[in-house]
Amino acid sequence: MTQTLVVLGAQWGDEGKGKVVDLLTDRVDVVARFQGGHNAGHTLVIDGRKTVLHLLPSGILHAGVECIIGNGVVLSMAALLREIHGLEERGLQLRDRVRVSGGCPLILPSHIFLDQARETTNRGGGKIGTTGRGIGPAYEDKVGRRAIHLAMTRNESDFSARLEELLDYHNFLLRHWYQQEEVDFAEARDEMLGQARELRPMIADSVDILHQRREAGHKILFEGAQGSLLDIDHGTYPFVTSSNTTSGAAATGSGFGPLHLDRVLGVAKVYTTRVGDGPFPTELFDATGEHLAKRGNEFGSTTGRSRRCGWFDAQAVRLATRINSISGLCLTKLDVLDGLERLKVCIGYREGSARDDSGQLQPVYEELPGWRESTNGARALEDLPANARAYIRFIEDTVGAPVDIISTGADRAETIILRQPFD
Ligand code: IMP
Repeated sequence: MTQTLVVLGAQWGDEGKGKVVDLLTDRVDVVARFQGGHNAGHTLVIDGRKTVLHLLPSGILHAGVECIIGNGVVLSMAALLREIHGLEERGLQLRDRVRVSGGCPLILPSHIFLDQARETTNRGGGKIGTTGRGIGPAYEDKVGRRAIHLAMTRNESDFSARLEELLDYHNFLLRHWYQQEEVDFAEARDEMLGQARELRPMIADSVDILHQRREAGHKILFEGAQGSLLDIDHGTYPFVTSSNTTSGAAATGSGFGPLHLDRVLGVAKVYTTRVGDGPFPTELFDATGEHLAKRGNEFGSTTGRSRRCGWFDAQAVRLATRINSISGLCLTKLDVLDGLERLKVCIGYREGSARDDSGQLQPVYEELPGWRESTNGARALEDLPANARAYIRFIEDTVGAPVDIISTGADRAETIILRQPFD
């Protein structure tokens, strides 16, 4: 029996995890985030209504589901409150089911300025194409043992002293390294203390809660953010995010022991996209790339940036399968390929071709026939054209993991479930 499941991105993010988590939440009691921050953008479409979540776990739209933000998440209190207020305006009751770990390092206003300064000036390495949400600088402070944890806001005078010292350091960098404006301490303190007071009832010992739920037999879903190839250790460094996005982080970022994680569902588009800079071996710059961008509506849900598009990279997803122990795949956006005459899948990279001028590996492709019929909204494998089924089978074989779910449209209902991950 599956009691706990990790759902994570097997590519460079934006694989459609939000929809899948929301779909599986029908069967779970708890959804927990364990890394990243509000750089994530999880889009859910329910009965035609679109919701984009950045920080709250994607289970939040299901009444009665407990939503946990684990210690591995870097927390912008402002972003969390914005999201809570937005959902409350729509009549959702959620404060009594959101639990935020007191161990979350806080994102300060200065982290955001530092992130943006690093991207716009050429100091401290080249541009990464970050989401500009302060994620990198906040994780730096965590590892540098300078971070302020959410729980530290409980003691307001202690919090103020810590904030003043950390802001001193950030302001030094902003002024002298980046030649930018400083952040005003009193303003930041008052703003953050106000936010902390509002969030206080939601601060919890999330480690204890998760284990209590596990011991009571509740089903728990761990929701990853970004994608495996953006992992700080295993991704396309330095063009990565600043957290571990792979399954081990579900344990460290929540306090759940790794042997309590039963299965890992890797979510991958049937093609590939990437936002931000960095290597992308199968990237397309032609009409097919435009087709994917247009049909797939490939614009970042956090920043609105256009996503780069390319063929499915089985080599990359195979790597993701290994480093995450992916037990099953969820393939998304199958319908975006409808109408393409021929499809290519990258099955490896050309031997000995190190890197070409553009810094990209040379992919080796296998060509497969496309299909003309619409797969949009299909709910059973038998409804798919034979070539679509063959394409999926090919992915399964080259990646080396079974396909459990196929998504054929944005709505929760537009899904083919071959094997229920929570069996
Ligand atoms: P950061 O996480 O804002 O520091 O950005 C680092 C890299 O991760 C950039 O290439 C971003 O575009 C990418 N990134 C961060 N969050 C997401 C996401 O949720 N989806 C896709 N890419 C992301």
